[in-house]
Parts: sequence; structure tokens; C-alpha cells
Amino acid sequence: MSTALLRLIALLFLLPPPLRHYLSPASGGRASQLNVKHPIILLPGFSCSNLEARLTDEYAPSQPRCGALKGQGWFPLWNDTWAIVNHDYLPCFEEQMSLVFDPILDDYRNIPGVETRVPDFGSTHGITSKNDAGRNEFCLIKLRDELEALGYRDRDTLFGAPYDLRHAPPPPGQPSRVYSDYFARLVELVEHASDKNGGKPAILLGHSFGGRVLLDFVTSTPLPWRQRFIKHLFLVSPTTPTGFMLALTNLASGSSVVQLPTVSSLALRSMWRTFASSLLSMPAPRVFGRRPLVITKERNYSAYDYPDFLAALGFSANGIVPFVKRVLPTMVRIDAPMVPTTYINGVGVQTAEQVMYLDGNFDVATETVYGDGDGTINAASILAFAKEVGTQHRRNNDIPFKFVKIPNATHAGIVIEKHPLARVMAELLEANS
Ligand SMILES: *[C@@H]1O[C@H](CO)[C@@H](O)[C@H](O)[C@H]1NC(C)=O
Ligand SMILES: *[C@@H]1O[C@H](CO)[C@@H](O)[C@H](O)[C@H]1NC(C)=O
Ligand SMILES: *[C@@H]1O[C@H](CO)[C@@H](O)[C@H](O)[C@H]1NC(C)=O
Repeated sequence: MSTALLRLIALLFLLPPPLRHYLSPASGGRASQLNVKHPIILLPGFSCSNLEARLTDEYAPSQPRCGALKGQGWFPLWNDTWAIVNHDYLPCFEEQMSLVFDPILDDYRNIPGVETRVPDFGSTHGITSKNDAGRNEFCLIKLRDELEALGYRDRDTLFGAPYDLRHAPPPPGQPSRVYSDYFARLVELVEHASDKNGGKPAILLGHSFGGRVLLDFVTSTPLPWRQRFIKHLFLVSPTTPTGFMLALTNLASGSSVVQLPTVSSLALRSMWRTFASSLLSMPAPRVFGRRPLVITKERNYSAYDYPDFLAALGFSANGIVPFVKRVLPTMVRIDAPMVPTTYINGVGVQTAEQVMYLDGNFDVATETVYGDGDGTINAASILAFAKEVGTQHRRNNDIPFKFVKIPNATHAGIVIEKHPLARVMAELLEANS
């Protein structure tokens, strides 16, 4: 028996009845029937997309060695994190990865002389772990393997849409050169995937930050286009617009998602804070209210106090502008996707809910209070997002919306571990039937 068939049989036990019936040998179903009904496009989590850089004459390196690759063409800047450490490239990496908010452009850009691009757009094989030592499968690699075992093929029926992790989808009306370009390419990719597959609309799946990018992409497209080209949307543990505590601790002490082996998060903190994406997912006032989220000796900060919180972290008045213009508007409203959607998230995992910095700095939390969630996203945020999207879909001709809570599935584990992954696959195959 082929491995593909064995996998399929293993999956059958977790499938909802209609599909199980459809696929079960007793009903005359064959594995080949499963083969590719609708093309699938994957958007992975935060650290998974690669980034390449090119240094031009305009680049004035802070240290001579950072200019070594000047004029040498494209090279991988964010790909193999061990290479950065082993080549002692860390200060250069930080400088070349950093963004600047340019008040004249009213947009984020690279520092002068650094050009960047995301390679392998369209493929799921350009989505890689940055560190061979572990967390390999976080980047939808197992999910991709499952789909390939069922007959899906890269760039034919299965596609990847890697993105520049440093940028964030802007609210309507705010310019983002990077996102204008990315969304235009994603429109083309969805249309291409559909064309290549007999005009069938595509299934779009995003995990973690990829889910947020996907949500904002879908709501940026005209409704008739969505209805024509999107069969189903899957948001798997998306970093929702309702926000989560970890976004605050990442800003305070350095990111838990952009990491280099042997380098502390704190060492990368100043680079992290230049990213548009670092400001995006703070807990939204509408969900977290006035309860203190960050506690210091001098004062407490709730979801209503972000400008003060950012100032306390050391952001200049100009540094707070992009938060006010580009992030605040995204916190006050949620636009539901208005296409059939399945929202899958873990719950029942210990998740930070309040942090204290009582040492007079933000380098290390002195105490953390935990509550429910998926280890990253707070349960209150997950439930509020589900409720809001569900309500909007119901009011609009009852557009299908399914909310699947998986007990004990962690933010990353949901696409790695056997049981939650099987559930995600089952939902995906049901939408594909
Ligand atoms: C990216 O890193 C992987 C190892 O994680 C390596 O196999 C691959 O060749 C790298 N890509 C480039 C363009 O260097
Ligand atoms: C901050 O919040 C904590 C916990 O709710 C409370 O005990 C403390 O008095 C507050 N501190 C200030 C300065 O408001
Ligand atoms: C979730 O984990 C807790 C603690 O380990 C355990 O008691 C509970 O049975 C688990 N629930 C499920 C549905 O697996």
C-alpha cells in the first residue's frame, strides 16, 4: 500500500462524516478522487519567508566589513540564521534588516543603499525554517508534505505566498509600497492558480502572521473578485486584529519570533522595533479594555495607553506617528472576509495576560500573570474575533463561518503535532470536497 494511501486512511478517522463517506472505500471512493479539486495557496507564519538583499553604491556601512557584499548582487539576508552567527555578520544583519519610517514618503523603507526582495514567490518550497536545529515544521512544512502526499504539486496545484516579515498590511488609505506590490502579486497568483486548474476558485490558508496578512488581503479585494476566485479561507491561529499580550513583551524586551541561535532577543530588540510588523498586534482596547496589561513601579499601561507605553520604551515622538496613523485604525474595526471561512485555533494553553517590569527597565519581565489562550494569542482575543466575524457573516446572507477550537493545541503545535494537524487537514479536505 502506498504511503499516500496510508496517510489518507489515517486521516479518514478524523474526517467529518460527509467526506468520510465520500472517501471511504465502501462507497466506491478512490484516493484519486481526492486529487486536487481546488488549488491551495499557503501563507506561512512570521519567520518563514526568506528575504534577500542587494547593496548598492549608496550604502554607507557603519563598519567597513558590512559593505563586503556591495555590488555583489542578491544574497540571502534572512534565510540561514546560523550563517549570520558563524560569519559574525550580526551587526551588519541588524543594519541591513532595519526599516525606517520616512515621513516624506509616509511609508516604511530600507536604509539607503539596501534593496530587498522576497524570493520564490509562488512556491511552497521557498518557505523554510531559518534554523536547522528545530521548529522546522512550524513553517507549514508538515502540512505541505501531507498535501503533496495526497497529490498536490508545487506551483501546479499548491502555491506559496511568502511575504516580507518586516512590513505590515496598512489600513485603508495608508501607503505601503511593499504591500501594494505584494497584494497585486497575490491577486495574480490566485488568478493564475485558478486558471491552471480549470477555472476553479482557490483555497487560501494562512497560519499565524500569515493568517493576518491573508485576512487583510482578502478584505482589500473587490467582493465580486473574492466570490469568483476564493473557494474557502482558512485562518489557522491567525494573529488577529484583536491583538495579544506577546506583542507588548516583544516590543519591550525583543522578539520571540525573529531569533538567531546564540543571540538574545534583547540584542535584536532595536532592530525589531524598526519593523512595521512589531507594532501591529498589540491588544485592542475593544477586547482588553482598561485592565492593566503592563505594570511598572511608576505606572500601569492598559490598551488605551500605547502612545505613553511606546514613549516609556524610548520611542521618539516621530516614532509613535506610524503607530497612530497605521495601527490604531486597525484596532477599532474588524472587516470580516465575506467568503466561506474556517477559523481554527488552539485554546486551554497557558498564555501571558499581564506582565510586570519592576526593575526599572523593560529588559526582563519580573513577573507574568497567565490566562487562557494558545500560548501566544489570548483566549479573549480569539473569542472576540470569532464572534465578530461570525456576526458579520450571519448578517450577510449567512456566509459560512466555522470556528474550530482545538483544546491544548499551541500556536505553533497546531500545524506540527499529529492530532491538531490531522484536524486542520480534515477541515481543509472538507472544504475541498
Ligand atoms: C537557505 O538556507 C538553507 C538552509 O537552511 C540552504 O539550504 C539554502 O541553500 C539557503 N538558500 C540560499 C539562497 O542561500
Ligand atoms: C497597577 O495595577 C496593579 C494591579 O492591578 C495595582 O495593584 C497597582 O496599584 C497599579 N499601580 C498603579 C501605579 O496604578
Ligand atoms: C489538555 O491538557 C490538560 C493538562 O495537561 C489535560 O488535563 C486535558 O485532559 C487535556 N485536554 C484534552 C482535550 O486533551
